[in-house]
Amino acid sequence: MQQISDITPLREIRRKWQIQGKTIAFVPTMGNLHDGHLNLVRQAKSKADIVVVSIFVNPLQFGPDEDLEAYPRTLEQDKAALQALGVDVLFTPHASAIYSRGLEKQTFVEVPGLSYMICGASRPGHFRGVATIVCKLFNMVQPNMAFFGEKDFQQLQVIKAMVTDLSMNLTIYGVPTMRESDGLAMSSRNHYLTAKEREKAPIMYARLCELKQKMESGRRDFSLMVDQVKRDLDEAGLKVDYVEVRSIDTLLSPGHEETELVILAAAFLGKTRLIDNIQVSLKA
Ligand code: PAF
Repeated sequence: MQQISDITPLREIRRKWQIQGKTIAFVPTMGNLHDGHLNLVRQAKSKADIVVVSIFVNPLQFGPDEDLEAYPRTLEQDKAALQALGVDVLFTPHASAIYSRGLEKQTFVEVPGLSYMICGASRPGHFRGVATIVCKLFNMVQPNMAFFGEKDFQQLQVIKAMVTDLSMNLTIYGVPTMRESDGLAMSSRNHYLTAKEREKAPIMYARLCELKQKMESGRRDFSLMVDQVKRDLDEAGLKVDYVEVRSIDTLLSPGHEETELVILAAAFLGKTRLIDNIQVSLKA
């Protein structure tokens, strides 16, 4: 595995692969890789000749009071894991090269609508930061395909919309969430949880699963059921940001006839913001 930090050598190697007719899969990450990330890499390897992974903790997607400084950075450990999976190139750009004109002056990409709701309402500017860095990384790596976890479901929808709106020439794959044995969605931010909080954390997914079951068994009083989930989480000591039932494609509130839905939730457990989601099909 080759580690590249500058854009010029990345472009050179990219050109060689193109001449050789190789297909390129890309997995953008912020590092501190867990099995969820490694699963994205496995999927990428199964679909393309070459796999590029990037590690870049993107300052543009963190709010002023968020965890940019504290975000776990474990480069040596990450490198070993990627090497073992047979990744071709690890791209580790520096912020000064990515945002060479400064964060204030940076041109940005914003997907309206989708970026302002749900997580976007609680984290203003977050999805603009995500869309901008992903667009820039796509321009640098020029992959044929890119892989994102469904854990960040709204992020995945924002990126798909950006690719459609800007006529980008690549395929986006969403990969199902990897979970710990007790159901907690894998996340780099789980490291922030104290032992007590870690014990409580699986309750969010457990309640989402129960809600899904009730919806699939025919109950349609979504807002009453959502309120109950919020109360349960609250009683368990979580500070709920949102629990929402949305249409899977638009992330808007579903009309009566819609059958493909997603339940999305975010809550603070101590200082840690947990997010999760589960897809529901009412077709059965
Ligand atoms: O999901 C992430 O880790 C980040 O939001 C991403 C897509 C790598 C952009 O910085």
